Amino acid sequence: MTNALFITGTDTEIGKTVVAVLIIKALAQHGYKVIGMKPVASGSRRTAEGLRNDDAEQLINASNVIASYEDVNPYAFEPAIAPHIAAREAGIDIRLEEIIRRYHALSERAEWVIVEGVGGWQVPLGEDFYVADMATALSASIVLVVGIRLGCINHALLSVESIQRKGRHLQAWVANVCDEHGERVQENIATLDALIKQPRLGTIPFCRDLDELQSADLKLDLLTD
Ligand SMILES: Nc1ncnc2c1ncn2[C@@H]1O[C@H](COP(=O)(O)OP(=O)(O)OP(=O)(O)O)[C@@H](O)[C@H]1O
Ligand SMILES: [Mg+2]
Repeated sequence: MTNALFITGTDTEIGKTVVAVLIIKALAQHGYKVIGMKPVASGSRRTAEGLRNDDAEQLINASNVIASYEDVNPYAFEPAIAPHIAAREAGIDIRLEEIIRRYHALSERAEWVIVEGVGGWQVPLGEDFYVADMATALSASIVLVVGIRLGCINHALLSVESIQRKGRHLQAWVANVCDEHGERVQENIATLDALIKQPRLGTIPFCRDLDELQSADLKLDLLTD
């Protein structure tokens, strides 16, 4: 049985890819077969092979299982805009069945599939269809990345509430210090520790060279036990 983890976040650009890559590398170091997936991506570049998205490529590079680009990232849109608008402008319907089909292709090869969402938890993907529905369709446990900056406590608590209302299991959250000049970082993390019942998988420090982070200090047993 493949384990599915869905990485969502308090916002766009707060470290979902950074955390997904760290989790993939940590699981691979523990001997698991693991692959990343970015079902929907906006902000992609044209290549001879088709549209390519940087997040999907980072996940592929961190993974220790080979898969086709299209299985990892079935929906790539060129402009870096809200995905439902990008899809509409491209004349494409984002279909849950297609995402599930691609997910199954990956899960046949891997023990863990680490799925990165797009934007936050309640981002629309189509008519009455949200990122939250994608996570639900994959029966994935959720990891919430909180980008530690002013406003994040509100965003984190709203996300936790919505994840639970959807009936998803919030496995853990991650504090990502994505703002180099953030104030009261430790106080914010302590507040989140007190207000979020689920455990903190770890804290990612601000780091100019993210390659130096290795697997940070993630409590992997929170995922594997
Ligand atoms: N802990 C950190 N230290 C330094 N830079 C960071 C850290 N976390 C994130 N960043 C930087 O912030 C930017 C956004 O990070 P990342 O791409 O992981 O966010 P995201 O939530 O995946 O964004 P998107 O919504 O576009 O998928 C990147 O340039 C990344 O290198
Ligand atoms: Mg990303």
